[in-house]
Amino acid sequence: MLRLALLVAVAGISTAAVAEDVSVANGARIAVIGGCHDCHTVGYGESGGKIDPAAALKGNPVGYGGPWGVNYAKNLRISASTKSEDDWVTFLQTFQAGPPMPWFNVHAFTEGEMRSLYQYIKSLGDVGEATPADVPPGGKFLTPYVDLGTPIMPKG
Ligand code: HEC
Repeated sequence: MLRLALLVAVAGISTAAVAEDVSVANGARIAVIGGCHDCHTVGYGESGGKIDPAAALKGNPVGYGGPWGVNYAKNLRISASTKSEDDWVTFLQTFQAGPPMPWFNVHAFTEGEMRSLYQYIKSLGDVGEATPADVPPGGKFLTPYVDLGTPIMPKG
């Protein structure tokens, strides 16, 4: 019984200790460790992880092609600008998107992480332009895209 009481006490303390830090700085960190810049920020990967403040999370006009047609890592500044912070949380908890967007990973964020990400995105300023319109399967594409289609099998 004593052991159980101790456990509860310790659990209580640790929950308090991880009380969430909702801040722009934490949102900036989450965008990095969540891999969001990898696809949503032009030049991020090529520069070895330097974040160009003018491009951060504005989306990428180079698309992803596959059986779904061609889609684009969207401008998240626009996504956030059209929502209140509470609406953003509900959106991130429920949205689904086409490949290669790992939307299921975003569902695992805590509410505080979602709020921090929102505050970071809003702090970036100028909302910028939307990415090109998605192209349906077999449709005419007007931008370069990365082919994520049929795997190329080894010869042999
Ligand atoms: C592998 C590339 C990739 C990564 C990594 C990635 N995204 Fe995406 N994201 C996309 C693509 C592509 C789309 C558009 C999918 C579609 O059109 O169906 C998208 C769409 C979205 C959307 C929907 C936008 C809207 O307004 O409809 C949100 C929100 C989003 N991503 C958030 C994130 C967050 C947050 C992270 C980091 C945790 C992240 N993405 C990481 C590629 C990526």
